[in-house]
Amino acid sequence: MVKKEIRVAVVGLGNCASSLIQGLYYYRNSKKEEFVPGLMHVNFGGYYIEDIKIVAAFDVNSNKIGKDIGEAIYESPNNTAIFAKVPKTGVKVQKGPVLDGVNKYTAEVVPVNQKQKAVDVVKILKDSGAEIVINYLPVGSQKATEFYAQCAIDAGCGFVNCIPVFIASDPKWAKKFEKAGLPVIGDDIKAQVGATITHRTLVNLFLDRGMKIERTYQLNTGGNTDFLNMLERERLSSKKISKTESVKSMIEARGQTIDDDNIHIGPSDYVPWQKDNKICFLRIESKHFGDVPMNLELRLSVEDSPNSAGVAIDSIRCMKLALNNKLKGPIIEPAAFFQKRPPKQFEDRIARQMVEDYIEKYRLVG
Ligand SMILES: NC(=O)c1ccc[n+]([C@@H]2O[C@H](COP(=O)([O-])OP(=O)(O)OC[C@H]3O[C@@H](n4cnc5c(N)ncnc54)[C@H](O)[C@@H]3O)[C@@H](O)[C@H]2O)c1
Repeated sequence: MVKKEIRVAVVGLGNCASSLIQGLYYYRNSKKEEFVPGLMHVNFGGYYIEDIKIVAAFDVNSNKIGKDIGEAIYESPNNTAIFAKVPKTGVKVQKGPVLDGVNKYTAEVVPVNQKQKAVDVVKILKDSGAEIVINYLPVGSQKATEFYAQCAIDAGCGFVNCIPVFIASDPKWAKKFEKAGLPVIGDDIKAQVGATITHRTLVNLFLDRGMKIERTYQLNTGGNTDFLNMLERERLSSKKISKTESVKSMIEARGQTIDDDNIHIGPSDYVPWQKDNKICFLRIESKHFGDVPMNLELRLSVEDSPNSAGVAIDSIRCMKLALNNKLKGPIIEPAAFFQKRPPKQFEDRIARQMVEDYIEKYRLVG
């Protein structure tokens, strides 16, 4: 008999974790068949939002450590929209090892008490009964992500990797999870209606209408810690690969090519007053019949963190189905639909159907 509860540990109590945890409370009492924006289904293979329970949380910011997660998610420098008041939950934020989680830019706003010792993460995962670890570390946290991925393996947890450090899509890590008999979903979560999915959809529109993508860019600005962190360009290489591949793969799947010089996708600047509002400027250049030039310009404005929280809730529920059914290694279907850098790219309409089939196959019975 599989358990109905989904016990989740969160790594990195930043803006994304705040939106996820607020959402768990905001929709806790929603009616069973009520529409919830941002979710694929309210009833996802037999699981509802109310089944998700946060049982452990790790961070390094001394404003957050030792506080209940119901308080810590509102602490500075978190600055995403507050749409729910989360009560005290009884779960306190614990200190993980810092490793490469903080850089010269974020150190200005993320106070770290160097004297405070990190906890034994594996022990806490085991003691809390966590079955899933969700990773929300800053971009470029290669060592820290690998550390928590290994902790998930050692504690017997599935791993949902929302960031562009390659775990599910890295054959070495994929093999480690497979060998441990544990599932992994990643990498780099795709927001509900964000820059990546909008760009992919528009590229497909051009291709469907018999147009060639001659040149394209996607420039993004924001004022949250994620954008502050990404001012350090050296941390960005995997983010650029993840975001660029996500669009380039759509073009190549349709038999077209685009030179690296003609596609530019990535975070562009940090504008503090934007807070968690992300603005995406997108341009596609093409030619009509007769080689007559045309172009499209789009400006998208979203609150960055709530935009991916529903996708995280669906990913967590996919992970629970994977655990119930003893699936191991990278879980291809949810990764293809919910992540920018899955082990294998599929067109979004196909990926969505793959997730529907996955739910049908592995849904909770009884
Ligand atoms: N917003 C979206 O839709 C979206 C989409 C794709 C990917 N992501 C990725 O999700 C991640 C989280 O985004 P965010 O906006 O919440 O960022 P954030 O900077 O607000 O949160 C990161 C948190 O990690 C903590 N941290 C740093 N080092 C740590 C360590 N070693 N151990 C534990 N905690 C540590 C920080 O103190 C902070 O609380 C980023 O990598 C971002 O790129 C977000």
